Formats: sequence, C-alpha cells, structure tokens
Amino acid sequence: MDRMDSEGPGAADAARNDPLVQLSLDQLRRRTSMKWRAFPGDVLPLWVAEMDVPLAPAVAAALHEAVSLGDTGYPYGRAYAEALAAFARERWHWDGLRVEHTAIVPDVMMGVVELLRLVTEPGDAVVVCSPVYPPFYAFVSHDGREVVEAPLGPGLRIDPDALEEAFVRARGDGRRGAAFLMSNPHNPTGVVHTRAELAAVAELARRHRVRVVSDEIHAPLVLAGASFTPFLSVPGAENGLAVTSASKAWNLAGLKAAVAFAGPEAAADLRRLPEEVSHGPSHLGVIAHTAALRSGREWLDDLLTGLDANRRLLGQLVEQHLPGVGYRPPEATYLAWLDCTALGLHDDAADGPGVVSELAGPARMFLDRARVALSSGHVFGTGGAGCVRLNFATSPAVLREAVERMGRAIADR
Ligand SMILES: Cc1ncc(COP(=O)(O)O)c(C=O)c1O
Repeated sequence: MDRMDSEGPGAADAARNDPLVQLSLDQLRRRTSMKWRAFPGDVLPLWVAEMDVPLAPAVAAALHEAVSLGDTGYPYGRAYAEALAAFARERWHWDGLRVEHTAIVPDVMMGVVELLRLVTEPGDAVVVCSPVYPPFYAFVSHDGREVVEAPLGPGLRIDPDALEEAFVRARGDGRRGAAFLMSNPHNPTGVVHTRAELAAVAELARRHRVRVVSDEIHAPLVLAGASFTPFLSVPGAENGLAVTSASKAWNLAGLKAAVAFAGPEAAADLRRLPEEVSHGPSHLGVIAHTAALRSGREWLDDLLTGLDANRRLLGQLVEQHLPGVGYRPPEATYLAWLDCTALGLHDDAADGPGVVSELAGPARMFLDRARVALSSGHVFGTGGAGCVRLNFATSPAVLREAVERMGRAIADR
C-alpha cells in the first residue's frame, strides 16, 4: 500500500509528480524523526506536522552543494528574506515585505516568543483563538505571559465578538499590555482568514491597544479555492509583526530557520530584537529554506495538487467509514480537524492544553484499537475535547488504510 491507486483520467500523470506517493512505507519507517519514531511499528502515524515526502529537488541540490563545499559555518546576509519577499510578490500579490524590516530567527515558535517579548512584558496577556496549535499555550505561558482564549465562532472562523471580549479581558481595563497571537492560516482547522476578517482583527486590535503577532507558517499551503492574505497587507495592520518559514510547506522542520517581519510602524520594535536571536538559525536551514522559496515552487504546486486530492479523498472516506464524525475540508494546510464528539468518548485524561504528545478520548481509542496515531483535540484548548487532528500529508493508500482501520475500531466498540 505504498503507491497511489490510479483513479480517473490523468491520475497516472498526477501521481508521477505527486511528492506524496514517492516514498514507500518501508522507506518512511527508516526515518528517525518524531513522526515515525514516537509510536511502535504497527501504528500508522498521522499526527505531528511532518510530511511523507522526499525533499524538493531544488532543496536537495542546494544542500548537496553546501555539503560538497563544506559550507557549514554561520548564516549571513538577507537571501532568505529576499526569497520570501519575491515569493510574497508572486504568490500573494503583496510587495509590502521590506527586507530591511526583517530578521532571521531560529524557527517560527522561537520567533513568536521573541516577537511577543518585544511587545509585551512578563505578566501581560496573549490572546489566542482556540482550538489552536498547542505550543501557543506552552511557549507563551513558559515565557511568563498569561494565555487568554477567544474561542472560534461559527464555521470555526474567528469570532469578532469573542475576540473583542478577550481583548478587554487581556488588557485588564488597561492595567496591562496584551498581544494577539494569530495562526494565519489557522492550525488545526485549516481556515484561511479573509481580507475582511483580518481587517476587522486589525481594527479591533488598534482600538484595544493589542499588538498582533501573526504566525504565517502555513501560508504557502493554501489549497485550490482559497487565497492567502498576509496580515501585514491589510489596512490597520501597520504596527503588526509576523513570522513565517518554508518549514511546513517543504517539510524542513529539521533544518531550523525562519523569518520575522514587521509592518512599518513595528520596524523600530523589530530592531530591538537582541542580536543573538539571529545567530540561532542554522546556516544549512537558511540555505534550504531560501532554495525552497526561490526554486521549489513547481514542487510546491505538485504537492498542493496531491493535498487537494487527499482532502477530497478524506471526505469520501469519512462519509463511508466514520459515521457521525464531522469533517469540514480545510482551505489550507494538510491538517484535518475531525469532530468526534458524537462518538461519546470522554477526555478523561485531559490535563489542559499544550502537551502535544498527550492522548485522550477519541485519539486514545484510535491509537489503542485502530493503531492510528492522531493528535488529541484536547491539547488544542477550549473547543478541542472530543476532536482529533489528522495529518493527511501522506499517500492516498496510507490515508485509506488509516481511515478504514478507524472505521473498524468504531464499529467494533
Ligand atoms: C501554526 C504553527 N506554528 C509554528 C509551528 C512550528 O514551527 P517551527 O518548527 O518553525 O517552530 C507549527 C508546526 O506545525 C505550526 O503549525
């Protein structure tokens, strides 16, 4: 089950280029990264956000060149930021990313922490829209800021009323500073915020004196039918900060590097970033991410085609095998948020948000009975209990096998 079945006209051609069908399960099981090592060999791992793809050839070539030259020193220069600015112009029709208003940072989450440090003090509040990427809780609270939740609203989209209420609570009647840490697009729902939604966020944030830090790591992974809006491109967001990288879209989490960037009114804040922070990214990481953004665009398009097919296949499989489970196809990312509350499984091990590897409720059941590893919804905060996050950046064959196993586990309960 390591190859995609041919389905329909043109499927063979699409499969030839689809990065998701190029590695066999045997090859993937030889990997030593978290996704493939955290669970025993009989488990299909569809949890942490790593993809079952080979390296994009442009990235592999850049790394091979660096290795052959022994080019393994410290990172230098602005090539990564320049590649990102060019990518933003081509893909997002945005030419507002000023290279002089950027800084390289070790990875997106360390970038998030450093940006939050620039605009909040210990004891201040950081608002997040729950359910959301669990490290938003862990990293923020470990850094001495209080997390304040603004639960997502109808359609799992940002709820402006809940956000405003959270901003008021976060500011504590103006007694403390606050920031809004946004996932744009949103992990785990795959929602792509619209320009109007982002403009409303910017307006609310200005009115309540809340600084926005936009995590845009999933931005290159917007699928057919949606388009990405950089937060800093909307009116009112001039004092915003953002951070992104090629890590999710080209599967480069092991090659650490990311870019933080500032709107014109936040450029002075970004200049206060301690110099040592930009010594943290790996030079090989910078080389790989730069090559991805510059020369890995065709590969990305092939990937997006495969992910689009997988999100549709998942819809069919859920309907066929997982009765009662809710699935709203994501507009971006390779993450599917499955609402399993109708299965009536309690999250009795739930310890609160943040601990990525903890399993409870349906995720525990699917691991024990189906031998499929998913991310447990409760670690994504309020609104997450009873849900699971499934990573569909794998071959259609693995996806089919996993959902069939999950269906049998539900039927045999
Ligand atoms: C929203 C979001 N931010 C950050 C990260 C992690 O990025 P990094 O490994 O660069 O810290 C992820 C990884 O899945 C993510 O989904």
